[in-house]
This record gives sequence, C-alpha cells and structure tokens, in this order.
Amino acid sequence: MATHKLLLLPGDGIGPEVMGQVEQIVAWFGKQGLASFEIEKGLVGGAAYDAHKQAISEGDMKLAQEADAVLFGAVGGPKWADVPYQHRPEAGLLRLRKDLGLFANLRPAICYPALASASSLKPEVVEGLDILIVRELTGGVYFGEPKEIVTLEDGSKRGVDTQLYTTPEIERIAQVAFELARTRRNKVSSAEKHNVMKTGVLWKQTVTALHAKDYADVELEHVLADNCAMQLVRWPKQYDVIVCDNLFGDILSDVAAMLTGSLGMLPSASLGAEDPATGKRKALYEPVHGSAPDIAGKGLANPIAMIGSFAMALRYSFGAGEAADRLEGAIADVLGSGTRTKDIAAPGANAVSTGEMGQAIIKALEARG
Ligand code: NAD
Ligand code: IPM
Ligand code: MN
Repeated sequence: MATHKLLLLPGDGIGPEVMGQVEQIVAWFGKQGLASFEIEKGLVGGAAYDAHKQAISEGDMKLAQEADAVLFGAVGGPKWADVPYQHRPEAGLLRLRKDLGLFANLRPAICYPALASASSLKPEVVEGLDILIVRELTGGVYFGEPKEIVTLEDGSKRGVDTQLYTTPEIERIAQVAFELARTRRNKVSSAEKHNVMKTGVLWKQTVTALHAKDYADVELEHVLADNCAMQLVRWPKQYDVIVCDNLFGDILSDVAAMLTGSLGMLPSASLGAEDPATGKRKALYEPVHGSAPDIAGKGLANPIAMIGSFAMALRYSFGAGEAADRLEGAIADVLGSGTRTKDIAAPGANAVSTGEMGQAIIKALEARG
C-alpha cells in the first residue's frame, strides 16, 4: 500500500481544535489498514508568527512542497491585528496557495438531508442541495500589483488593489469547471461583472470561447456576480457548478455555506495543475471557515468542514474514493442520528462538543465496517 505524505498545518483559533479531530480520523484509517500516512506537522499563521516572526517559515514551505497533500486548519485572530501587513497570519495561507500553484479551489455546498431545517432558509429551498463553487485561487485582486497605500501630496492617502486576469488563467479554471460539470449535472454558471469590469469582459469572452471549442455539450450560462449572490439565497438548486474569480468565489462560498446550515460544514480542496510526468498535483485541503476567535478554546467548533476536507484529500489526492465515501457517509449517519454541534443545533437544543462530534464520526465509521 502506498504511503501518503501528509502535512498538517493547524494554524490558529479553532484550527488546532478541528485538526485534532482529523488527526484521530487519519489515525483510525491507518490503524484499520485502509490507508497509510506519513505525517508531519508545521506552523502557519499567527502561531508561526509567534514562533519565528513569519506567517510560514521556509522550512514549513519546503515540507508543503514535498507533501502529497497539506491539511490546513485556519489562521488569523485579534492577537495579530497589529503585526506588519506582510506578516499577518493570512499571508501564510496566501503564500501556500501562490507558491504551490493551487489555482483551483473546489468548494462543494451540500445540504445533508438531516440539516435541511438548520439552514436560515426554508427547508424546501435547501433540501437536496448539491452545488460546487469553483473559485480561481491564485490570481485576481488578491495578488494583482500594484497593491499599496500611497500618501499623496496633500497628505491624504490612496489605497490600491489591482484586479488582473490573463486568458490562460481564466481558461484553466473554466476547464476545471467544465470537466467537473460533466461528472455532475452538466451545467456551468460563470459569474463575473462584465458590466463594470474589464476583467469581467475578458472572463466572459474567454469562457464563451472555450465552451464553443471544447465543451459545447455542457450547458453554460453567464450570470452577474451580484445577481448570483441573490439567486443563491432565492433558489440555489438552479445551480450545479459555479465558476468565478478569486474575490467573488470567496464571497459566494460564504453565502453558499449558510445554505448547508453553517460555515462549519463547508470543506474545500485547493488543487494545482497535474504534473504530466507523474500524474500528481499539489493540493491543500482546508475548511472554508476561519479561525472563529469568538468561539475558540470553548469546544464549540464544528469539525465537519475540516473532516470533510480530509475526505476530499482521500478522493482527490490519494485515489481513495471508497474511503472518502465511507467518511462522508459516516458524517451523514451522525447528522441523521441527531448529533449536533451548537452551530447546527436548534436553538435551546442539546449540542455536543467538537471532540464528541469527532468521536461520534469515528464510531459511525466503525459501524459502517
Ligand atoms: P470565521 O469564519 O472565522 O467566523 C465567522 C462566524 O462563523 C463566527 O461567528 C464563527 O464562530 C462561525 N464559525 C466559523 N467556523 C465555525 C465552525 N467550524 N463551527 C462553528 N462556528 C463556526 O470568519 P471571521 O470571524 O470573519 O474571521 C476570523 C479570522 O479568521 C480573521 O482573521 C480572518 O482573516 C480569518 N479567516 C481565515 C480563514 C482561513 O484560514 N482559511 C478563512 C476565513 C477567515
Ligand atoms: C478563505 C479566506 C481567505 C480568503 C483569507 C483568510 C485569506 O477567507 O479561504 O475563504 O480570503 O481567501
Ligand atoms: Mn473566505
């Protein structure tokens, strides 16, 4: 059995709490002989800044480059509000994405049947929901230059961020979206703002041309990103795959998270290009949520987004689709039995801790044996 190199970067706030649950699940898969892992652990975000005044060290970047997959918890928090901008905790995550070339961020939003009533929307709006946001992750306004605050002659200041996309960047993310749509309900909705942005015009033209050339069998629609946000809370089931730029994808995926009941439910996979020589791709798996400083250290965090991210690692990095199905099935079983962390429990209802949720999922994994 192949041994997979896994780098764990728990990060800050609830990151280490939810990662702790994944560690037990990884160990369980190892013990059962279902998969074999070689595990390294590193620091990222505020934790890395505290240790060596950098949001990720060169040593940990090297481990990330060498790993078959990185599991990432969350970074950030008020403790680091005043650190220099280039060393803020979030810079560690952005560097990982950029340096590993993780341009494709898959953010599935699935409403587990047992959670239809946990969403802030009516159950009939979210029941059976299964959409996939494909977010471009290494371009756009996150990385465009110039990016600066300049002091002008009159003493006032000007902040600049640059939204920038090239056709190859748009083509490769659209390709991922079309390919994935073919394995699902065969529909892609491309969200941009061509009505106000030049990058939006280029995005729409490029996606349209690629569609005509290689993917005419896939249904394609264009939607303005603001309308897409509205449609997501009006009638999300109209969507299958949504493809969009870095910033719109960040926002639309937080909206989509609430359709599933909680931000604590949404996993994600950040993938690089396939190396033609080895067939492998760099990958980092992370929950969509952040470090949740408001609940950190209280055992309240929902570990399902993190555990679901490990399931995506099993599927996309380790070719272990059956193990991924089993883990996702175990999550569904636990939710079906009524076990809830506070974020997905009915107001006033009993809720379990982060650790109890992790244990319940391991029990359900065993029961599926
Ligand atoms: P957040 O995602 O940390 O929290 C938003 C809300 O969702 C909070 O009320 C929080 O308690 C709740 N929540 C989030 N995850 C949860 C979970 N697993 N279980 C239960 N409830 C959960 O966003 P924020 O408060 O805007 O940001 C806090 C910090 O996290 C900031 O520094 C931000 O930059 C950072 N952040 C990091 C990542 C990441 O590391 N990938 C993602 C988003 C935000
Ligand atoms: C996310 C986060 C990150 C982003 C931050 C922490 C850099 O919000 O992964 O959704 O904006 O991409
Ligand atoms: Mn976000």
